[in-house]
Amino acid sequence: MKTLTGSLAAATAVFALSTAMTVARGGEKRLEPLVPVVIPADNPMSAEKIELGKTLYFDPRLAGDSSISCSKCHDPKKGWSNGVQMSDAYPGTKHWRHVPTVLNAAYLKQLFWDGRAGTLEEQCVGPIEAPIEMNQNFAHLVEKLSGIPYYQKSFKKVFNSDVTMENLAKAISAFERTIVSKPGPLDRYLKGDKNALTASQKRGMTIFTGKANCIACHHGPLLTDHDLHTTGTPEIGPLKTETDRIATRHFFAKVNKYPNPRTVDADYGREIITKSRSDRGKFKTPSLRELRWTAPYMHNGAFETLEDVIEFYMKGGEKHPNKDPEMKPFELNDQEFDDLLNFLDTLSSEKPLLVKKPELPKKADGTF
Ligand code: HEC
Ligand code: HEC
Repeated sequence: MKTLTGSLAAATAVFALSTAMTVARGGEKRLEPLVPVVIPADNPMSAEKIELGKTLYFDPRLAGDSSISCSKCHDPKKGWSNGVQMSDAYPGTKHWRHVPTVLNAAYLKQLFWDGRAGTLEEQCVGPIEAPIEMNQNFAHLVEKLSGIPYYQKSFKKVFNSDVTMENLAKAISAFERTIVSKPGPLDRYLKGDKNALTASQKRGMTIFTGKANCIACHHGPLLTDHDLHTTGTPEIGPLKTETDRIATRHFFAKVNKYPNPRTVDADYGREIITKSRSDRGKFKTPSLRELRWTAPYMHNGAFETLEDVIEFYMKGGEKHPNKDPEMKPFELNDQEFDDLLNFLDTLSSEKPLLVKKPELPKKADGTF
């Protein structure tokens, strides 16, 4: 996929530029208001491209057995995730990670829990091919979609091309770049409206940036440092006991060429990709926007509520040989605990961000 790598390079160049700007401003860790999403130079937005991407996103025929769309796992009605601990999976398989939301994924510089993709375009084709997700063969999918007149016409109009995997990824990515938060109370506050936050929310912000030290990793407009850390999130039961999940873990280690994949006895996170022992247990820092809609939390859905998450941080995370030095225990009284929760709540939209499910186009023979 030479051209996908090309688009990766283009998007990386834009991001490198914006990173340089942050450093030039001093590089300090602080909260910042939302900014518009960066659109990669080689994938400009258009209404028709977004519509095509949206139709593909909701079309279960992208899966090998025509039963799983992107929206099955990243469901708008469930915060663009799936609302449960573990991801859905291709029939007959079980997944080993929690579904991260697609909401605001357009802003992320590292995608997947282990940061193994750099752009939406690069990320998009992964689940289509993965035997635990959509289990589809690319060459077959191109033929399948070419048998649907709407897709043939739409790819021609938008890209002046036949159906290709590269342009499919571009269309879905363009759609995903529209699935983003609108500025909320914190953004108004940071831009000078001192009444945009309540007294409790302001106290919560002081705790967030002060004694709870959340700001060490959760900063900038998305409240993420776009980096990976070991926090010591506990391993969940099903990943220790269920044979099919353990098989998925070993499979993932194997396809990523991790030595002796069957010895991998937990989710090593970033280490599976880099093979560097110092990366064991590292996961990407998620954005903290829209948490109201995206429970449960963490790479394995270990925590059902934000109360559970805060209690985990108060203990300084759990024991891990690689634990990040910024994970330090702290105490909060009941009032401070509520203040921190109230602050986190300002980062979510009042209403869930929904889109209307498009009508699925018929095949050339008139069936679906
Ligand atoms: C069977 C469930 C499933 C399907 C289908 C699926 N995904 Fe995912 N998606 C996941 C899981 C689980 C992850 C995290 C995997 C990991 O980190 O190893 C993920 C990760 C992502 C991410 C990265 C988000 C982040 O914060 O890092 C994006 C974006 C995404 N998927 C978009 C899509 C698109 C677009 C499709 C359709 C082409 C799709 N997904 C299909 C389960 C699914
Ligand atoms: C050392 C860096 C670091 C610090 C400090 C830190 N976090 Fe995190 N945060 C992370 C990482 C990394 C993850 C993902 C861990 C995982 O998936 O296992 C995470 C996950 C989360 C999540 C789950 C989000 C989701 O979508 O699943 C929440 C909520 C959260 N952190 C809030 C906080 C709060 C509140 C504080 C301060 C009390 C804090 N974090 C301090 C790095 C940090």
